[in-house]
Amino acid sequence: MSIRLGDTAPDFVAETTQGTVNFHEWLGDSWGVLFSHPKDFTPVCTTELGYVAKIKPEFDKRNVKVIGLSVDSVESHNKWEADIAETQGTPVNFPMIGDHDRKVSDLYNMIHPNANDTLTVRSVFVVGPDKKVKLSITYPASTGRNFDEILRVIDSLQLTAKHKVATPANWQNGQDVIIGGAVSDEDAKKLFPQGWKTIKNYLRILPQPR
Ligand code: BEZ
Repeated sequence: MSIRLGDTAPDFVAETTQGTVNFHEWLGDSWGVLFSHPKDFTPVCTTELGYVAKIKPEFDKRNVKVIGLSVDSVESHNKWEADIAETQGTPVNFPMIGDHDRKVSDLYNMIHPNANDTLTVRSVFVVGPDKKVKLSITYPASTGRNFDEILRVIDSLQLTAKHKVATPANWQNGQDVIIGGAVSDEDAKKLFPQGWKTIKNYLRILPQPR
């Protein structure tokens, strides 16, 4: 069965390049990003892992743990990581699951047999501190992911977890936000005493709460 937003992220125990990971226990109170790679020693994945390693401080700042997966062994990952450090300029600084038995790939439906019956697609799951799935994206194997977009969505998720707001198209951290549709004007007055701008009665804008 596919994993839907709001579902509990399936728990698992897996061997990784940083030792055995019990997923839920490893997440602790953090947010998490679990992302799959079709195969080791492939060019697009090499650039993706190098980029995520470079921006890992951005995930750390947001209290987000990152974990990758590929359907090869940990031994293979270790050899590949030497190439990634050499070609991308940053060593991989987060665990990579050795999913040679496809246990985690199957659990998360990362193999789409009509696309390819042995490699994973490029899945991304963002998991909240409550272990619920907050975001799921699937990219084709031939397209490298935009990890700045993943950070942008995490900023939105973390903001909307705290405040009764939503974020508009192409929103970036610090820009104006939208009052959630379920919030009445009466409640909005209590929540946002600084006021807001009404464009339509269903479209109310205010500066991002801090
Ligand atoms: C890649 O990472 O370059 C790749 C992997 C599988 C299929 C196509 C591209």
